[in-house]
Amino acid sequence: MSRLIVISNRVSAPTPQQPSAQGGLAVALTAALREADGIWFGWSGETGETGELKFETFDGVTSATIDLPEQDVEEYYDGYANRTLWPLFHYRLGLTEFERDFQGGYERVNRLFAEVISPHIEPDDLIWVHDYHMIPLGWLLRQQGITNRLGFFLHIPWPPTDLLHALPEHRRLVEALFAYDLVGFHTREWLETFHDYVVREMGGTIEDDDRVTVGGRTIRAIACPIGIDAREFIASAQSNEAVTTQNRVVESLSGRRLIVGVDRLDYSKGLEERFNGYLRFLDTRPDAHAQVTMLQIAPPSRASVQSYQDIRATLDALSGRINGAHAEIDWVPLRYVNRGLPRGVLAGVYRAAKIGLVTPLRDGMNLVAKEFVAAQDPEDPGVLILSRFAGAAAQLTGALLINPYSPDEMADAIEHALNMPRDERIARWRPMFDNVVDEDVIWWRKRFTEVLASTERVAEVALEV
Ligand code: ADP
Ligand code: F6P
Repeated sequence: MSRLIVISNRVSAPTPQQPSAQGGLAVALTAALREADGIWFGWSGETGETGELKFETFDGVTSATIDLPEQDVEEYYDGYANRTLWPLFHYRLGLTEFERDFQGGYERVNRLFAEVISPHIEPDDLIWVHDYHMIPLGWLLRQQGITNRLGFFLHIPWPPTDLLHALPEHRRLVEALFAYDLVGFHTREWLETFHDYVVREMGGTIEDDDRVTVGGRTIRAIACPIGIDAREFIASAQSNEAVTTQNRVVESLSGRRLIVGVDRLDYSKGLEERFNGYLRFLDTRPDAHAQVTMLQIAPPSRASVQSYQDIRATLDALSGRINGAHAEIDWVPLRYVNRGLPRGVLAGVYRAAKIGLVTPLRDGMNLVAKEFVAAQDPEDPGVLILSRFAGAAAQLTGALLINPYSPDEMADAIEHALNMPRDERIARWRPMFDNVVDEDVIWWRKRFTEVLASTERVAEVALEV
């Protein structure tokens, strides 16, 4: 069995301070790393002089992280990753900043990772690189003489070709993907937009659906949707912590039904549009005020980036306006919480809710939608209202799929969900639940690594396309 090497910006391997892996990706990858005796490489999350990689083995999993100087964090993480690629790949050209310094920092940090990681690679290792922070890493590893099988997974959407044209040096970024042997996307939609770029911009060809050729180089590219750790999440929805939370929340509602949203505080999550949709519901259905309360949980994210400070200020003002306009002496229509919650508490909140409102303007996948489905009571499930622009919409077809830009559609969907008979709720929820269980995060990890292991190994490192 080959060793597995995982490389990502954030490393969420278990540590003595955080002994259980946090989140589906961390759970799936730590299990694989433990079995395959692998290593998880990435940024420590700390700012400081770049020294050596720090290796730590805990509970059978080894991580190796490095600090980055402040300028690198500003240009690579805040800059190119989160002020250039993130907005552009989420179709937000107006928020995208194009600075040569950002691109320089991005390439510098990727080169640093290639240099410090390559001495630790053994000949038969399978290498799996994650996400938009690390697109050029494969290319840079090849330059260090690495001929191992190399896979890359993009956790965010792949943008339409015409949008990608706005990125200076877009072709250089895409060419770097051809250093990998396998490239994975969450959905067919993102795979097909990638195909479109390859065919139109690079004169490439697609064969057998998953073989992509440019010049003399053929790689595999697949759609492989990530899942959650469904078994763990179902169990945490039945834990004491979840049941206590559910009871506490239900008691606080005084008979009203709960609508819940859970998101990082990010403009791609459509929170402003969601608040406006809820406001439209309240404005146009005064009789329904006695029936609902909305809870939005949104911990701040990437707070040093201006566009994230702006969306936070917008939501502070809008939540105040909604409550100012509609609150009663004994009712607040919107509870807005800027804090993360422990998993068991989160599962209890999902289970207490009659409606899950998951309305990103664009999202590679969206795991909250899957967690909401996993946490429901099979006898009396809540209704998922889901943006058609989330990757998860391709799998969770029992949801009420909406256009998140339309406040009227959102208000209509809330009304529809509140009036939905139990039989219909069960009929919609059951196939979604089966999908969340069948295509879970372990399934995703196995599928990707199996295809990667079956790719042909590069004979040499020159990979001009
Ligand atoms: P993204 O990767 O863009 O943040 P996802 O929906 O795919 O979006 O994944 C978000 C993950 O973060 C989910 O597992 C979700 O449970 C977790 N999360 C989001 N908000 C909170 C919160 N307030 N408390 C705890 N976990 C949260
Ligand atoms: O899912 C997309 C993603 O950017 C991950 O790569 C990342 O770990 C997560 O969202 C949270 O973002 P950040 O690491 O910037 O806090």
